[in-house]
Amino acid sequence: MRILVAGGAGYIGSALVPRLLDRGYAVTVVDLLWFGNHLPESVPVIQKEIFDLHVDDLKGFDQVIFLAGLSNDPMAEFSPSLNFVYNASAPAYLAYVAKIAGVKRFIYAGSCSVYGYTVNELYDEDSPAISQHPYGISKLQGEKAAMQLQDDSFSVICFRQGTVSGYSPRMRLDLIVNTMFKSARQKGEITINNPSIWRPILAMDDVCGAYIRAIEASEEISGIFNIASGNFTVGEVGDQVQQVFERRMGLRIKLTIKDVQDYRNYKVTFEKARNVLSIKPRHDIESIIDDLVQHEDRFADFDNPVYYNIRVFQSLKPKAFTL
Ligand SMILES: NC(=O)c1ccc[n+]([C@@H]2O[C@H](COP(=O)([O-])OP(=O)(O)OC[C@H]3O[C@@H](n4cnc5c(N)ncnc54)[C@H](O)[C@@H]3O)[C@@H](O)[C@H]2O)c1
Repeated sequence: MRILVAGGAGYIGSALVPRLLDRGYAVTVVDLLWFGNHLPESVPVIQKEIFDLHVDDLKGFDQVIFLAGLSNDPMAEFSPSLNFVYNASAPAYLAYVAKIAGVKRFIYAGSCSVYGYTVNELYDEDSPAISQHPYGISKLQGEKAAMQLQDDSFSVICFRQGTVSGYSPRMRLDLIVNTMFKSARQKGEITINNPSIWRPILAMDDVCGAYIRAIEASEEISGIFNIASGNFTVGEVGDQVQQVFERRMGLRIKLTIKDVQDYRNYKVTFEKARNVLSIKPRHDIESIIDDLVQHEDRFADFDNPVYYNIRVFQSLKPKAFTL
């Protein structure tokens, strides 16, 4: 099977693509390489903007995975205009071109951010998605455009992912568990901006496993699926990171609790992914920390700007937002 991964040189892609190669798939990556290229040398990488891909470029691929765009709120807020182009229009364009080219399945990396600020209930895929912020709005738009193209000959699987955490060869330290790990290691302290906020957390190994299940699902399956390893309050994540450090490494970590307002608060059920796609998460906070400890020497230069998406994005000098 031939698979094109758009945005495949990013955090998720750099961990996922080697897994796909191990499984015998022929993978090509198209990526602007904002964060460099940490993929195995054998992977063909086309350094290109998604909008510069044409039908002929997509011919011969069986499946396309969309992992591109601006991947967090700070990037989206820095340039909402580019956010809507990259997160809403780019997946719409790529899915459209892929369908014309005869691609059989499109898999879209969506986000639980679409839910916005919820009422402390467990949200499923039919619950209201009411984010009022550029990132959440655009991730819903990208998902809707892809789903609109679904039919008997074009399967579309959209994941609403929790916050991914754990090691990747293209590392990020701006994601909740990774940030707490870094801060505990570097300062012996974890700052919790708001302990009562809910977040679904998704271990890197679990997200890679989910993409494999989607690729290998029978072709009549399409739909939107929440995916996460578990739901946690931010306070609970902090407690667990602190406990793992103390128990496993004998290090005392100070917790600093703040009361900062957040506009994202959601917990989700991932039963549909389990029932329809057989996606069964295997990880928890402790195993994510294990993964980070095991690979720590590869990202020990904690303050390198490349680990923080917003810093790299600002250095690219995109059109910034002015009110
Ligand atoms: N990481 C998370 O916690 C998380 C959670 C929910 C959803 N997502 C979604 O998953 C996807 C991947 O996330 P990630 O953390 O790997 O992101 P990332 O920022 O590490 O990688 C994105 C990659 O896409 C490339 N890219 C961006 N726009 C492009 C374009 N127009 N053409 C070609 N290449 C382009 C960048 O160069 C980069 O390599 C994103 O769509 C993100 O919104 C991520």
